Amino acid sequence: MMIRYQFTIILYLLYIANYTSFAYNNGMGKTPPMGWNSWCTHSLCNLFGKDPCTEQLVMETADAIVEKGLDKLGYKYVALDDCWSDTKRDANGNLQPEKKSFPNGMKHVADYVHSKGLFFGLYTSLGTETCKGSRPGSYNHYAQDAKTLTSWGIDMIKMDHCGHKNGTDPQLYGEMSKALNASGRPVLFSLCNWGLDNVWDWGSNLAQMFRIQMDHLPFWKFGSNHSSDGVGYGQGTYDIIEWMAHLQPSKWTKQYGWLDPDFLMTEYFTMDFIGSRTEYTFWSLWSAPLLISTDLRKISTKKMQIIGNEEVIAINQDPSNTAGDRIFNDTNGRQVWARDLANGDKCVVLYNSGKGKSHGDKLIVGVTWDMLGWNTKFVLDNDGNGVKEGNDVIVEVRNLWKKETLGNFTNGYNATLAVRDVQMLRLRRYGV
Ligand code: GLA
Repeated sequence: MMIRYQFTIILYLLYIANYTSFAYNNGMGKTPPMGWNSWCTHSLCNLFGKDPCTEQLVMETADAIVEKGLDKLGYKYVALDDCWSDTKRDANGNLQPEKKSFPNGMKHVADYVHSKGLFFGLYTSLGTETCKGSRPGSYNHYAQDAKTLTSWGIDMIKMDHCGHKNGTDPQLYGEMSKALNASGRPVLFSLCNWGLDNVWDWGSNLAQMFRIQMDHLPFWKFGSNHSSDGVGYGQGTYDIIEWMAHLQPSKWTKQYGWLDPDFLMTEYFTMDFIGSRTEYTFWSLWSAPLLISTDLRKISTKKMQIIGNEEVIAINQDPSNTAGDRIFNDTNGRQVWARDLANGDKCVVLYNSGKGKSHGDKLIVGVTWDMLGWNTKFVLDNDGNGVKEGNDVIVEVRNLWKKETLGNFTNGYNATLAVRDVQMLRLRRYGV
């Protein structure tokens, strides 16, 4: 009996040891990661043109993050995408940076980023090649690459899905996840398989963030359903919002397991102020990673207001560890989204989707407290009439983009919105 008992304990301890070796609970990514990634810094996310990434770009971006006070707001990750590595491994089969762009090696760059109090990230791929430039992927080299990259001091790794490979995604990403943990350095693992194989079912077992669709491009509406590079309804901001509505992000979002709708395009010239603000609104509502992939060194004062709004960031980083879902959608494009917050407040987004068009009629979009489950209670009196029990539900409404409290409202609240525009609200309930 005693032996059986001890055996059970040993099995349990082995289970815990294995369980804790996975990336998602290695301490990184406790809240959705915030920062910068190089991928869309130039030429429409590398649709054309030369790869932009150099040692200088990384260092100047790290400087800009600190000079603009973005680090204090939580933007900590400075990450290079597909662009940093040489097309050949070194004589020992290790990945190496492209010498011309990184003359001092990657440890030097990582040290610089760390000296600014920031984290450094690099990119690789699950298969034999990365997606661009015929660079070596990590297939058959997971443990070796995890060792090389962590020896330079990286804090984040994005693993893409290109190149040839044998094995399922959960199996292969699982191998990398274990290899990263075996390195002994806590690394945030960003799993990028473009939403294939229902990644929302298993991604958070292996990584702290996982891409739920094909790439986001800096447009409002772009492309169509299900391209060969992943699932989704298209690559524009509008398309991603619709795809997320379909997925119901609150079903899958958890701490150390954030759904990744891809990079923010904030400073791109094809993204105007309203489009960028709506993009940032939804990413915040979903507790999605806030990784800006445009040139932060050049961000305009106006767009700094978008990425620098602490009240909106607080929604994204809220300890409730959940996400907002769509709770109303009509044929004209009126949408209402809502999520719970840890202190009992709710965040509501009123949105005129324009049904994907960029211009059109303004619409009045409204939310009632009933829609949020905040009902005034009624009981029946002796004659069977409904009588109010307790107080009316009174809700204080704060407009987060304006940083303005709009007052107390008894039944609901509505706003007139231009196409593509939102109001992002924090609601606090009073009464019973
Ligand atoms: C894929 C990814 C992108 C980017 C590129 C790099 O398309 O989905 O996010 O990393 O590869 O080549």
